[in-house]
Amino acid sequence: MIEDNETIDEFLARHTGDVEEAVRKAAAQEIMPRWRRLAEHEVDQKSGPHDLVTDADRDAERYLTGVLSALLPGSVVVGEEAVHADPAVYGAIRGEAPVWIVDPVDGTRQFVRGEEGFCTLIALAHRGVVLGSWTYAPVGDRIATAIRGRGAFLEGERLHAGPPEPDRELRVATSHPDFTTDEQKRSLLGLNVPGVAPRPCGSAGLEYLAVASGRSEATAFSWEAAWDHAAGLLLVEEAGGAHLTRSGEPFRITGGNELPFTAARDAATARRVADLLAGERD
Ligand code: IPD
Ligand code: CA
Ligand code: CA
Repeated sequence: MIEDNETIDEFLARHTGDVEEAVRKAAAQEIMPRWRRLAEHEVDQKSGPHDLVTDADRDAERYLTGVLSALLPGSVVVGEEAVHADPAVYGAIRGEAPVWIVDPVDGTRQFVRGEEGFCTLIALAHRGVVLGSWTYAPVGDRIATAIRGRGAFLEGERLHAGPPEPDRELRVATSHPDFTTDEQKRSLLGLNVPGVAPRPCGSAGLEYLAVASGRSEATAFSWEAAWDHAAGLLLVEEAGGAHLTRSGEPFRITGGNELPFTAARDAATARRVADLLAGERD
């Protein structure tokens, strides 16, 4: 519980372990028992056949909403499935209260197929600034965390993305075509140049972890939903990376960004990818 005069910073220093425990429990109780055992009636479509939600998504979000709001009284929760039920919930990202931003299962398509590439994403933000970040991949039991100004960690080991190795082709995870408008697809065509290897992403959260870990060079995403990006962008920043929209500004979780935008291992790579997205060749 946040006490008198305690800042969110102090809250994070004391409670990051509690958030880790909550995300592990959500996965153990609500997600993993259904992995590879989902019944047909537990899966529904949202905007189309590519956009799925399961009982695991809904129940994990319900569990996390209860635990996180109790941990930080006065905070609010913006979860993907709550916003699907009532889009007005999203407005809290621009409000005055500290906000937990939750994607209970990122990579639901992979989850439904029984594949390994999904995770749970939590971020804590205040007045548009992301202050805490948790990415939990239950298959493999790996957790990545970041607190603003205090670094990024994977299983307790400090993450340093570092610059790409010279002459390496840039591996760039891009929006999946099923989730991308024609205009956004045209901007992503800017990445089809020698020296850049774009590929469609699976779980956005795991792609950010790959950039923060130096296993991939960048992302180029064309949608704004804060639950997909908030945790990963802080993780990349705290690992030494940077993010830029097509117009050269850092991405804002409060919206109004020029899309697509990139997050990359270092500032120079972010600039190079943002220029390509804006149609400027090297
Ligand atoms: C999706 C994944 C996917 C991305 C979609 C997201 P979900 O999240 O991150 O990689 O292309 O735009 O909606 O629906 O599995 O949480
Ligand atoms: Ca997601
Ligand atoms: Ca989701």
